[in-house]
Amino acid sequence: MINKIKKIIKKKNKTKIICLTAYSKNFATEVDKHVDITLVGDSLGSVLYNYNTTRKVTLDNIIEHSKSVRMGIKKSLMVVDMPYKTYQNKKDALKNAIKVIKKTKCDAIKLEGGSKIKKIVKHLVRNNVAVMGHIGVLPQSVKGKFKYKGKMEREKKQLLNDAKLLQNLGAFSIVLECVQSDTARLITKSIKIPTIGIGSSKYCDGQVLVTDDLLGLNETKIRFVKKFVNLKKLINQGIKKFKKEVISKKYPSKKYSY
Ligand code: KIV
Repeated sequence: MINKIKKIIKKKNKTKIICLTAYSKNFATEVDKHVDITLVGDSLGSVLYNYNTTRKVTLDNIIEHSKSVRMGIKKSLMVVDMPYKTYQNKKDALKNAIKVIKKTKCDAIKLEGGSKIKKIVKHLVRNNVAVMGHIGVLPQSVKGKFKYKGKMEREKKQLLNDAKLLQNLGAFSIVLECVQSDTARLITKSIKIPTIGIGSSKYCDGQVLVTDDLLGLNETKIRFVKKFVNLKKLINQGIKKFKKEVISKKYPSKKYSY
């Protein structure tokens, strides 16, 4: 695990880091072939369960999905999101992080926040938990509409300080979510650990997206989401073919029968 993390850090300033989400074994198997980091994000709440907030995702939810994901991963670093209210204090954070790591065999966990979770990150790293940071838009804290961060000077300074703080506390990488381009560039240049952007410009050291979004499975109007393929179309083609062959009694033919 430490080697995998070192390899990811070494990519900074050399080659882009690829990170995607997976919530189950079959997706993880395919994602793992192409990425450096597979993230079991709490975005699974909205993508799979239609929750209007990631706050509803529980520790048990994330553990069960992560156990499934683990079965599909051969090479990438597996990072699991710590759900809302599972890292409110040092004691809970460590207890829950260890539970997640033991049950899912993940390599690292991700927490949302900067200076507000300083003591927690410090405590986790001290206890050998590999931590990925997450600053900018923090879905576990947002009420209502998401607004990008880092345009105002005060916000820019705060984000830069948070990134430096997380680095100094021992985080191995930081997700920048919806951070204004110049600010994302400044943060990326100012720290030694990689930044992984989502809606935060090309200046980050790597990029992460929700896999269901890039495959066109999830209907969303979020600005940074690019549909790289229309998987819905392919799924419909397959299902239609199956239906047609069942109705016409072409399937199951002898070949597919005992
Ligand atoms: O929950 C998630 O999937 C995430 C990424 C989109 C960064 O946190």
